[in-house]
Amino acid sequence: MSDFPRLDGQYALVTGASRGIGRAIAESLAGAGGNVAITSRNLQDCQAVAEEIERSHGAAAMGFQADVSRVESIHELFKQLANWSSGRLDILVCNAGFPMQPEIWNTPLHATPPDKLQRWYLDVFATDAMGAVFCTFEALPLMTARRCGRIIYISSTPALEGYQGTAYTMAKAAILGLMRDVAREYGKDNIRANALALGNIRTQATFEPLDKESRSALAAEAPLNRWGAPEEVGKAALFLASDLSSFVTGQVLVVDGGTVRR
Ligand SMILES: NC(=O)c1ccc[n+]([C@@H]2O[C@H](COP(=O)([O-])OP(=O)(O)OC[C@H]3O[C@@H](n4cnc5c(N)ncnc54)[C@H](OP(=O)(O)O)[C@@H]3O)[C@@H](O)[C@H]2O)c1
Repeated sequence: MSDFPRLDGQYALVTGASRGIGRAIAESLAGAGGNVAITSRNLQDCQAVAEEIERSHGAAAMGFQADVSRVESIHELFKQLANWSSGRLDILVCNAGFPMQPEIWNTPLHATPPDKLQRWYLDVFATDAMGAVFCTFEALPLMTARRCGRIIYISSTPALEGYQGTAYTMAKAAILGLMRDVAREYGKDNIRANALALGNIRTQATFEPLDKESRSALAAEAPLNRWGAPEEVGKAALFLASDLSSFVTGQVLVVDGGTVRR
């Protein structure tokens, strides 16, 4: 099919790509011919994923260690990335998220233990929101220099509708603000920024720990009556990363089986 998106020769960086959704996005971009940088806090995991991607897709892949919540770590990551890609970055996917902790996710603000209030909110914000800020800050010069770039932010449906785990909701809503500012400010440099707002996606972090009833109850939230697969997020990311979305910027694409309808 002539319209099938291709990313041959392009370089993409995906944060939190050692497993789950980030890995599926990296696979999807590599499947279209893109070269992918795989990052998380665990270098060995990233190297293993990069090797598997090279084997199965033929595109170049490299694992890098980085903690997105630490500004120096991201500065160092981009130095290594620029070395590997000869200073080129076409696609940035800000996917790394604070580990799913049920007690934070399920506790409304008023019930948060006072001694945990500051820690919980700042920790989630540092990874999800500031991590996206640090990566965008480093990516922009590489993209503006070549007048070409696409940035994809991974948000969540609570950012659109609210939920009880306010620490996560706030961080994911902040990402949407960042996305809109980047789209507005750097469109003139041919940089597009969009976000995916995800519903229940079946990963080790979200699906595995649940009992059968909870899994079914969450599936039933969506008109499609099931969990989404990470690969389905990968396809949506490929749309936003490729020329198929060449006139789309500043938008939130909801990938949730139809729970949020607007
Ligand atoms: N699954 C869902 O239903 C769902 C729904 C809505 C939104 N999301 C969002 O989608 C993203 C991925 O979710 P997932 O379910 O795939 O989660 P996951 O399986 O827990 O994967 C998270 C990834 O982020 C990395 N990571 C965590 N903290 C990091 C840090 N400080 N610096 C760098 N990397 C870090 C992890 O690797 P290390 O731990 O080795 O660093 C891992 O690669 C998250 O942003 C999440 O909020 C998921």
